[in-house]
Amino acid sequence: AYVIGLPCVDVKDRSCIEECPVDCIYEGRRALYIHPEECVDCGACEPVCPVDAIYFEDDMPEEWGADHAASNAAFFDG
Ligand code: SF4
Ligand code: F3S
Repeated sequence: AYVIGLPCVDVKDRSCIEECPVDCIYEGRRALYIHPEECVDCGACEPVCPVDAIYFEDDMPEEWGADHAASNAAFFDG
């Protein structure tokens, strides 16, 4: 799945939401989150983010990935 990393925090441009064909991008308090099972890996959201927050999961820069993984899991658990 694609994931949204730390650059989205407190930016929340929301351009990605409009591109997603399956509406799997959800809004949290400080950032947006992609549902890992609903995402169909189309890649449409990646180029539209003005702060380059969106990456395919394996390509997420390490310094953004760990924190993101924790907040993403917490978001969908809650
Ligand atoms: Fe939605 Fe496609 Fe982005 Fe996944 S990769 S969140 S399906 S736009
Ligand atoms: Fe965030 Fe970029 Fe979407 S800032 S809301 S991931 S367009």
